[in-house]
Amino acid sequence: METTNKRQSGDIESIDLSVNIAGVELDNPLMTASGTCGYSDEYADFVDLGELGAFVTKSISVAPRSGNEYPRIVETRAGMMNAIGLANVGLDVFISEKLPKLQAMNLPVFVNIAGVTQADYIQVAEALEDIDIVRGVELNISCPNVKAGGIQFGVDPSAVEKITAAVKKVTRKNKLIVKLSPNVSDITATAQAAVNGGADALSLINTLTAMAIDIDTQRPILANKTGGLSGPAIRPVAVYMVHRVYTQVAKPAGIPIIGMGGIQYASDAIEFLLAGATGLALGTSLFVDPRCIVEIKNGIRKYLADRDKSSVQDIIGALQID
Ligand SMILES: Cc1cc2nc3c(=O)[nH]c(=O)nc-3n(C[C@H](O)[C@H](O)[C@H](O)COP(=O)(O)O)c2cc1C
Repeated sequence: METTNKRQSGDIESIDLSVNIAGVELDNPLMTASGTCGYSDEYADFVDLGELGAFVTKSISVAPRSGNEYPRIVETRAGMMNAIGLANVGLDVFISEKLPKLQAMNLPVFVNIAGVTQADYIQVAEALEDIDIVRGVELNISCPNVKAGGIQFGVDPSAVEKITAAVKKVTRKNKLIVKLSPNVSDITATAQAAVNGGADALSLINTLTAMAIDIDTQRPILANKTGGLSGPAIRPVAVYMVHRVYTQVAKPAGIPIIGMGGIQYASDAIEFLLAGATGLALGTSLFVDPRCIVEIKNGIRKYLADRDKSSVQDIIGALQID
């Protein structure tokens, strides 16, 4: 509901940033983008992750994965490319060693899950059902950097619907978020397929498949040859895709979007909110300056106060386009 009462700069703190992602209450829309903040302990010395609204883990698979050969990261002029290859400790170690640390943060946790087969996704999702702080699973069917699994589930709408429906059957307590790939000709088709399969929320975008060449060796810089482009370079693409998915799929279906792709400043975050994102994930920007979390929150509050709004919900999907 829109509010019109004039605000003094002093009560800017009272502006309500809380959002609801498919029934999960978040203190504010900001969360980590999977894979960019590990399992949380890696960042504890740099930033108070308690400032976030939720924590999203890196992709977890049934068995541990060492990931791709090095080099697997390269900086680009307006972002970075990675081909990590879903390196992670595996389900058992995640539950026994990493989850207790996440618990200490006292935030809702969404666990990003990955697999080579449909059965892998189901096994991980099922194991996370009994864990209180886990409030949702984010289905990574959009990783461009692995040979088996990953994006192969995410580019064909019928495969998206099938895997979403299969995981949905085992997610009773947890919400099911489906993470969409931008490496498709029509992202609204895969978004609709995820909704048809029973997704409770959509997140977008994962990285864009890209390549960097070492002109001296005349070979690809990344050992994997290609990688996923992220950071400011992809933001306008991500904003456009969030806008399309919001208007054509998510709004009619009444499900929320978690938007990501190059969010670094409050103005970036506000673009995503206007385009229709309810949640906002920060990835590459955390490598640049993890303190951006607090700056973005303050910037959103100021934007709302300047427009006499009392809640972030007043601007979600407020893009004027006609
Ligand atoms: C180093 C790195 C590792 C990533 N690992 C994962 C991952 O494990 N699972 C996943 O779904 N996305 C992964 N991503 C994609 C991000 O979650 C996000 O979708 C993408 O980077 C766009 O956001 P950004 O521009 O804010 O980084 C990774 C991105 C980066 C840069």
